[in-house]
Amino acid sequence: MSQTIAVLDFGSQYTQVIARRIRECNIYSKIFHYSTPVKELAKENLQGIILSGGPSSVLRKDAPLPDKKIFELGVPVLGICYGLQLMGKVLGGSVEKSERREYGRGTLTLKRKSPLLKDLPKQLKVWNSHGDKVTALPPGFKAIAATENSDYAVIEDAKRKFYGLQFHPEVVHSERGIEILKNFLVGVCKCKQDWKMSDYVDTVIKEIQEKVGDKRVILGLSGGVDSSVAAALIHKAIGSQLTCVFVDNGLLRLHERDRVEELFGDHFHIDLRTAKSGPRFLKALKGVTDPEKKRKIIGKVFIDVFDEEVKKIGDVDFLAQGTLYPDVIESVAIGGNPAALIKSHHNVGGLPKRMKLKLLEPLRELFKDEVRALGKALGLPDSMIWRHPFPGPGLGVRVLGEIKKSYLDILRQADHILLEEMKRTGYYGKVWQAFCVFLPVRTVGVMGDERTYDYVIGLRIVESLDAMTADWAHIPHSVLQIISNRIINEVKGVNRVVLDISSKPPSTIEWE
Ligand code: XMP
Repeated sequence: MSQTIAVLDFGSQYTQVIARRIRECNIYSKIFHYSTPVKELAKENLQGIILSGGPSSVLRKDAPLPDKKIFELGVPVLGICYGLQLMGKVLGGSVEKSERREYGRGTLTLKRKSPLLKDLPKQLKVWNSHGDKVTALPPGFKAIAATENSDYAVIEDAKRKFYGLQFHPEVVHSERGIEILKNFLVGVCKCKQDWKMSDYVDTVIKEIQEKVGDKRVILGLSGGVDSSVAAALIHKAIGSQLTCVFVDNGLLRLHERDRVEELFGDHFHIDLRTAKSGPRFLKALKGVTDPEKKRKIIGKVFIDVFDEEVKKIGDVDFLAQGTLYPDVIESVAIGGNPAALIKSHHNVGGLPKRMKLKLLEPLRELFKDEVRALGKALGLPDSMIWRHPFPGPGLGVRVLGEIKKSYLDILRQADHILLEEMKRTGYYGKVWQAFCVFLPVRTVGVMGDERTYDYVIGLRIVESLDAMTADWAHIPHSVLQIISNRIINEVKGVNRVVLDISSKPPSTIEWE
């Protein structure tokens, strides 16, 4: 059994980030509800416990508290923010409401040596977000660092290996915060750092098997990274109990359906049902020009088609989704916080409620790069793992205005050329997204001796870290020249190619 760090979740928005930082150190971590009884935790090969931050105050009557026996397990404990205040309170110190809420950056000054702050400079910028503070240390504790606002910003009971941090080491704004966590994990807990993403596969597979039992699971496969990794993972866990539904909405890129069918049907032998519904989507979209209306129609028809496929399959209990952690905005509802807020996937957001299915979301704790690593461990090809994001409504928001089959055909060919050239020159892997948009305007051109009056293709190639902001990518003119020449020469109906040089904001990545 892997050495495990238990992260007790008191509702902090950073709980998953803590778990991720631990995984980055090649150590396995598992998140538990704060109230998990010690006998449950003791089933793990525990090397240490981290108490997360949280929105509550230990001064409240209904403050969330852990099973007190965690302090008798004999493993090191690190309390972060609320976790530190909780240790202050439960272990016999005192906590008071701070006069000033300490929010944002502060300066941490080291006062004495501690394995937690090993090899760190005397002063560090750290990131705070708390209203209460410890005003008297519990017996056995010493202060080892202070901030402007608190004498007890880092505390230690070296004998029992209990530590507390008033700030958040897990966020990037805390200088060398990761080293502090690592000092705890390796220096104090003596973790081995031998855990790998491929070990995670085994753990998650077991969890999926336990949760699903002999029931059936359905998954809407889009062909993107997240749903593909979820499909491969769940299939490995429960084999033929999984059915994947791929909806061909007629708004896909060139050869998209063939690729999905080859990989998941022929290669992985997944029970894959393709719903060939292009004409149905196009019919529903006829005459519609407003982007949001188009999105709504595409979303609604998708749900109808998916629903019909599920009915054909019969008894299904679970709907699997490739939801990642960044899609989950808030942590679980704790300390009177509102219930978990989930940014629903544009396509399947309404599905679980309508179909009364239980959710299976095995990637819910992972970040995108971790999902890619998981996909690699599962044997998915690089071409799948490193795909650019593709919007749920597909080419439906890349044909501007009314969608017509003839426009889609032109766009598909142009887009295929762009992607081919981006891949050939190595620029595909260097940008966030690269795609074509179809402009339903006609311009005059001349080809051979003939005058042409044809459509315009826009090239949108952007760099971004998270799609929240983006900038147009500076692709060499020589590469753009080949792309433009090829599109105009090879795609009938296009006689002009333009380059989008707008950043987001104020523009968006997609044109609609
Ligand atoms: P924007 O255009 O808002 O796009 O800058 C940000 C990112 O989101 C993708 N996008 C969508 N994804 N359904 C999706 O699943 C949508 O309706 C949608 N609209 C935009 C876009 O491709 C980019 O990665």
